[in-house]
Parts: sequence; C-alpha cells; structure tokens
Amino acid sequence: MKTLIKNIKELVQVDDNSRLLVKGKEMAKLGTIKDAYLVINDEIIKDYGKMSDLSEKLLLKSSKNKIIDATGRMVFPSFCDSHTHLVYAGSREIEYSNKIRGLSYEEIAKRGGGILNSAKLLHQTSEDELYMQALARANEIISQGTGAVEIKSGYGLNTEDEIKILRVIKRLKETTPLLIKSTFLGAHAVPQEYKSEPDEYVDLVINEMIPQVAAEDLADYIDVFCDKGFFTVEQTDRILLAGMKYGMKAKIHANELAKSGGIQVGVKYNALSVDHIEYTEEDEIEALLKSDTMPTILPGAAFFLNMPFAPARKMMEAGLPVAIASDYNPGSSPTGNMKLMMSFACVNYKILPEEAIHASTINSAYAMGVSDLVGSISKGKIANLFITKEIPSFSFLPYAYGSNLIETVILNGKEIVI
Ligand code: NIG
Ligand code: FE
Repeated sequence: MKTLIKNIKELVQVDDNSRLLVKGKEMAKLGTIKDAYLVINDEIIKDYGKMSDLSEKLLLKSSKNKIIDATGRMVFPSFCDSHTHLVYAGSREIEYSNKIRGLSYEEIAKRGGGILNSAKLLHQTSEDELYMQALARANEIISQGTGAVEIKSGYGLNTEDEIKILRVIKRLKETTPLLIKSTFLGAHAVPQEYKSEPDEYVDLVINEMIPQVAAEDLADYIDVFCDKGFFTVEQTDRILLAGMKYGMKAKIHANELAKSGGIQVGVKYNALSVDHIEYTEEDEIEALLKSDTMPTILPGAAFFLNMPFAPARKMMEAGLPVAIASDYNPGSSPTGNMKLMMSFACVNYKILPEEAIHASTINSAYAMGVSDLVGSISKGKIANLFITKEIPSFSFLPYAYGSNLIETVILNGKEIVI
C-alpha cells in the first residue's frame, strides 16, 4: 500500500545522504523541505520532495493509496530513544520525597533503596504482570513520538529475574510496532548479599548470567553501571569482554556520579555509546574523538537528580556528535518523553533545537545501532515518523515544552491509533 502525505508545512530532518550520525558543527545544520510531500511504500520511505514537483498521478486517490493532508503541520522522523530501563515493576515515588528532603541518589542506594528496591519488587512480580506494565509504558512513548527504543535489564540482579526482564523485552519486540534493541545490564548494582564480596557477583554475571542470556539469544548489547559505589573499571572491563565473546556490543553507564574511567573503558571496547557522562573533561573528550563511540546525554536523569550537566556544547565544539536519550526508569527519570528531553537539553545544556533534533533522532539511532534503518527522512529507511499539530516552526517543538504537539504517529508505514 502507498501512503502520500501532502501539503506538509515543513518536512524536518531530511538527509539525502542517509548519514549514520551527525557531528560537530554539522549538528546545527538541519535539512528540511518546506511545502513538501512524502510517499511511503508499504513500510519504507519511497520518495519526498517539494509539492510543486509532485506528480499529478500520485494525487489521484485509488483504493490502494491513502492520502493524508498535512496542511499547517510538520513531519519529523520518530524519536529514537537509545537508553531506557522501561521494564520495571511499580514505581519509587517514596524516594522522590526523600530526595526532596535532601538525600542524595548515592545515599538512597546505600540504604538499600534505589535499584535494589526495584529489584525486590520485580522479584515479586510475575512475567505477565511485568509485561503489562511495560506495554503500557511502550504505548505511552509511541504516543509521544518514539519509534525505536533500547531497553535494558538490570532490575533482576539474579539469573532468573534478569532472564525474566529480557523475555519481557523480547515479547515487546514481537507485539509492539517499536523497533527494539535489548541490552543485558546484570551489572546494574551489587545485590545486598554480595556487598562484602562484589567480585563474586561479577563472577556470577560472567559465568552464569551471560552464557544463559546468550543461549536464549535475549540480548543485542551489554551494559555496566561503571561508577563510584557501583562497578569499577576493572570489573567493567571483565564483564564487557565476557559479553562481547557472545556477540553483545558494549554500551556503558559512565561518569554519572564521578569521573569513573567508564568513558575510556567504553572507548577501549568500541562501545556503541557511553551514557550519562556528567563528569567529562578534556581527556575523555580526547578519547572520544579517536573513537566511533556516541557520547549520550540523559537530560531527564540530570534534571531529576539535580546533577551537574554533561558538557555537551564543549563536546560538539570539539567536533564530537552527541545523542540524547530518556533513561526512562523508576529512580532517576520516570518518563520516556523524548520531546521533553529535547527541551531539557536545549535549556540546560545550551543545545540548539536543530542540534537537539539530530541528537534525538539520527545520533540516538546510531547509539542503539539502527541508524541505517531509522533516524532521518531518507529514501529506503523505515517509515517511522510523526505528524505534528499545527505549529509555527520546528523550534516550537522543544520550546513549547509542556504541550503535546504530536497528532499522528506512523510506524512501519502504518498509522497508529494513539
Ligand atoms: O541510568 N544509573 C544507573 N541506572 C539508572 C537508574 C536506575 C534506578 O535508580 O533505578 C540510571 O540513572
Ligand atoms: Fe540508565
């Protein structure tokens, strides 16, 4: 089936060259076509251009063609959210109040709250119930414009529960129109019973969890929370190496709480991305410049935890690309709203709307290994896009940070009822 979207006020993030990522100064140059059309053939972007060049033939309605009139509206490629933990049980608003009263993320974690709290709840939750909770979140992010998402395990912290999460992710892959990549994050926190011997937990991750996850083919990638109070660089090194032996590419939680060495170990193993990276200095920027690793900021977590902001402007000025992801999780970012992430990024990191659009589409697609498939309006890519409500300019999207401006969602070429 063909779909024609006509009279598009502005077609945004058009890239005839299908670049896999956009870096440095290029990030401020956004490809757009005003007064445009777009043709979708089955699930693929077939053609686009200016309305004045649209062939008369295409405007004729046939039973096989669908025509959408987008007068006054803009079309964007769907957001790609390259870092989430959206399979979790329940919520943790109790800690929200504790944080407001002055406890830090680390202090909450030390008292057995935080990730361990979620792990306890997840253990008591059946796989079906976990799936239903995660499905509701997946449907919510679809309605907010996300078309591709990476989802991590990490609230199991024992083999059985980690596998339970990864099976739920697999079920989401099969039952939602989202393009999903799954990441094994057994090394998200050290469970209480291993507190005095954390290396024994690392051994469990390496010798038991990774082989079982691989045997069921449940993870595309492997991640470690490499940070103060969580996993050391040495432990991270061992875990990444073990996962890579089974074909899982590395992604890292690095430098969220301190300058951890996480960025360097990620670069060493050619990680797809290093994420959080609040504590980033010249030596990390140098290391990233020599790598293919995508520095990824998580503006929701930095906002929610009141953290210092990663030096994204400095990184772009040095010539690096930057990606934005939501970190959707119950402890540090209980939302997967990528439009809101763009707004936080623009204001708090001094990122221009053009840069934020690249960072939350093509660069975040790269950070989850799918930028050959999605992340820009390019011929041959999967037709994952959204049509806005009537808006004056593309900058209005991050500017009007509290408004829902998405009217129509199209995933795999099909309109989704939102
Ligand atoms: O990315 N930093 C580690 N993990 C999550 C937080 C998880 C939690 O607190 O539940 C994050 O911020
Ligand atoms: Fe995270």
